[in-house]
Amino acid sequence: MQALRKKLVSVLPLRFKLIIKQQLSHFKIALSRLFAGSPLLATLFYTLFSSAFRREQYAVLKGRLAYQQQLAQSRDSSILLRRNIHRLEKGLIMQPRRAVFAEDYITETVAEYAAVCSSIELAELKWATAVLNEYFAVVASTPLIDKAKTKFFAENDKALVRLSAEELPASIPYCYANLPEQQVSFDALWQLMQRRRSVRWFLPQPVEKSLLEQAIAAASLAPSACNRQPYFFVHLNNARAAAEVADFAMGTTGFSGNIPELLVVVGDLSAYPNERDRHVIYIDAALASMQLMLALDTLGLASCPINWPDIEPREQKMAKRLGLKPYQRPVMLIALGYADPAGGIAYSQKKPASSLLQSDPQMPH
Ligand SMILES: Cc1cc2nc3c(=O)[nH]c(=O)nc-3n(C[C@H](O)[C@H](O)[C@H](O)COP(=O)(O)O)c2cc1C
Repeated sequence: MQALRKKLVSVLPLRFKLIIKQQLSHFKIALSRLFAGSPLLATLFYTLFSSAFRREQYAVLKGRLAYQQQLAQSRDSSILLRRNIHRLEKGLIMQPRRAVFAEDYITETVAEYAAVCSSIELAELKWATAVLNEYFAVVASTPLIDKAKTKFFAENDKALVRLSAEELPASIPYCYANLPEQQVSFDALWQLMQRRRSVRWFLPQPVEKSLLEQAIAAASLAPSACNRQPYFFVHLNNARAAAEVADFAMGTTGFSGNIPELLVVVGDLSAYPNERDRHVIYIDAALASMQLMLALDTLGLASCPINWPDIEPREQKMAKRLGLKPYQRPVMLIALGYADPAGGIAYSQKKPASSLLQSDPQMPH
């Protein structure tokens, strides 16, 4: 059926194709008008007439399930621990700090710490151990907190065996005044941002892994909701694989064969027990990707973000090629390499700041 449709489309003159496209578009707008009357009608529309959100809904549910299944299991990073240690840090720096805080989640935090302290990577373990130590040093006593404290110090030995080998400094909250002095001027930052452009034409030259790792480390410093960092980057490190995967997307026509290396930015919905956070993978991954692209520029490399469309057959191809789980969603692709000095760059006029910054509608300036 699909092959027949394709054949038909290929023999139709462009004029007819455009007319059909226009008629279809009119029909879709009319349908939208009908069902955009209320949230309930919209739900009906997407249940009856469109599968556009199907994969996302499936991914969110699978993610919620995976979140629950991974709890209390030994692994190299714990989402729950990362989130709760972050919450403890916010409690520690609260002004004024409350005598008793985190009572509602300290038990689950210590239970998770106990489950993963032999397996999580050292920096995460060091952070969790130091913050929990600090918390129990300052928090007031309650029966629940005392119980958690006893369990923490009983489990702590397993962690300390691993930490002593590393001799890492304590990673606990500190004062703003302790931050290193700002050395990047606005002009320098402006110049970097002006220099970073979407580059689509590259030299056929591989990228040193160490440079990419540097850029990824810079990306990891980006803010993320509750410090969960629910994303990872899959690296296609040769032109053949890069072109194969870049062709799964729609926006690489004409230049996918020229991409030396490619990253697929993947968001992980198993970081969340609730649907309300389903957008955070896109936000966090995008913030990290921006830092990555700026860092690449400072390292002499160039990049181009590439849109990832939520289209079922393309999603299936990508998931199969990369071995993604149903709750791991491609967010975007990033082409990278050494720019061809003679390659063209689109001018891409930006909007003026005055049109991007809007006043508070309740308090006009
Ligand atoms: C999420 C996202 C998706 C994009 N998708 C594509 C794409 O599919 N193909 C492409 O050639 N450029 C793509 N771009 C690059 C944009 O066209 C480019 O960022 C924009 O025109 C501004 O130009 P600049 O990046 O040089 O400032 C994408 C950019 C973003 C942020």
